[in-house]
Amino acid sequence: MNHFLVKSTAQALFRSSRNYHRNFSTAAIAQLSHQHGGGAYGSFHGQRMSTLPEKKDHQPEENKNENNNAAVSSYWGIARPKVLKEDGTEWPWNCFMPWESYNSDVSIDVTKHHVPKSSGDKFAFRSVKFLRVLSDLYFKERYGCHAMMLETIAAVPGMVGGMLLHLKSLRKFQHTGGWIKALLEEAENERMHLMTMVELVKPSWHERLLVITAQGVFFNAFFVFYILSPKTAHRFVGYLEEEAVISYTQYLNAIESGKVENVPAPAIAIDYWRLPKDATLKDVVTVIRADEAHHRDVNHFASDIHHQGKELKEAPAPVGYH
Ligand SMILES: [Fe+2]
Ligand SMILES: [Fe+2]
Repeated sequence: MNHFLVKSTAQALFRSSRNYHRNFSTAAIAQLSHQHGGGAYGSFHGQRMSTLPEKKDHQPEENKNENNNAAVSSYWGIARPKVLKEDGTEWPWNCFMPWESYNSDVSIDVTKHHVPKSSGDKFAFRSVKFLRVLSDLYFKERYGCHAMMLETIAAVPGMVGGMLLHLKSLRKFQHTGGWIKALLEEAENERMHLMTMVELVKPSWHERLLVITAQGVFFNAFFVFYILSPKTAHRFVGYLEEEAVISYTQYLNAIESGKVENVPAPAIAIDYWRLPKDATLKDVVTVIRADEAHHRDVNHFASDIHHQGKELKEAPAPVGYH
């Protein structure tokens, strides 16, 4: 009797779980939309989200893999639930989901500058300015290439900071005020900038080699830097982001003056930033620049917290701040 009850319960649980997965695409998104009062997710429903390119060559890479090379799992429940767009077509990306896309706040002040005060601030500012001179000498007016290479570096600090805070949380049995998540979100956002830029600029072999070298050096240097002084490390990133804003402003000027062709926006950018279907490179650069301004403020804020003799966990992190 007991055996029968256990078996029946297990079967019922299994069936309900299967149904959950089958219905996720509609039920989960409807629930998310409801929970957010038609706000963040509501605007997703209202947008024209179908960005599947007409040309077969531009089909999202991840979708291609799924169709041609999909690995079949024998593990129960491991498959990603099917997610649909508002227009009924399948969500084409594995790297981000509809509820992670957002409307960029482009009203943010892109001219703001933190005046260096402490010796650490001055060190961070001068280091970034020195790196800027080197990168300007190398890239000159190759704006797309410059942006792409910048993103390969910009996506590192958030991951290093988030990882170190994660380890500190485990070590000290402490909460971190949401800063792990905020910094990892920044790293992911920067990586999405990169995934967008590589759709527009194809790196040459020597640029790929430069990225590998720069990553090896920068990751390790920033790791040590963050352990020694998170206060100065965040200030350094704040200044790095100020430079990113300047670089994207120059890129925008080049598009506006016709030096750079204002090509259609890549499909991944249209879905990630919920841009209109006819969005162009100018729209993409505008939203990326706004993201950089947000990163600038988050990192200067993190440094300011340390300057006040406090730990990051004492100030709630700006999670989901774009
Ligand atoms: Fe970026
Ligand atoms: Fe950034």
